[in-house]
Amino acid sequence: MKTKQLERVLLNSFCLVVWAGIGLAGAHFLSSCTKEGGDASKDAAKNSAQEVVKQKPEYYKVKNVQLGTTIDPALSKQGGQVFDVTCTGCHKYDEKYVGPALGDVTKRRTPEYVMNMILDTETMIDKDDTVKCMLQTYLMKMPNMQVDEKDARAVLEHLREVADKKK
Ligand code: HEC
Repeated sequence: MKTKQLERVLLNSFCLVVWAGIGLAGAHFLSSCTKEGGDASKDAAKNSAQEVVKQKPEYYKVKNVQLGTTIDPALSKQGGQVFDVTCTGCHKYDEKYVGPALGDVTKRRTPEYVMNMILDTETMIDKDDTVKCMLQTYLMKMPNMQVDEKDARAVLEHLREVADKKK
């Protein structure tokens, strides 16, 4: 009986130590994350020029996205339809849902980032620090939704229009 009790006490405190360890490591990981990615909106705004260069790493499948100076309404409409069918299960414009709010994503991220998030989701989750950090918040991996490049570009145009209207 006594040894059983002692065993339990020991086991208990061992668990506590492990938990504390995990907790500390987790806290450390999280804190390095808020700087790197996650809600990097402020950082991105602060050194946007630097960020843009930094945010076109070699693992990007889509290397360069040409944006018009104005929004293409037809393209945006097409993108809105794709978005409604494919993305609204997890994303809203103005608030966090299963994934981050996307109404202002084109202000926070580069067009290439958004395109690669849609077209090469797995690589982004695997390699991109910003996305890796978001995983800690959203606790699930965004699936590759099998959108083709034209539709992805249309969704980007739609998200640009949504961001534009928020001004
Ligand atoms: C099943 C849920 C789900 C669906 C469907 C989904 N996403 Fe996501 N998305 C997520 C999650 C969760 C994240 C956060 C990163 C992670 O944890 O993988 C995310 C992240 C993103 C990001 C990065 C946002 C940021 O702030 O950097 C973009 C852009 C994005 N998604 C676009 C889309 C688009 C466009 C579609 C539709 C084609 C879509 N997602 C469909 C779950 C989803």
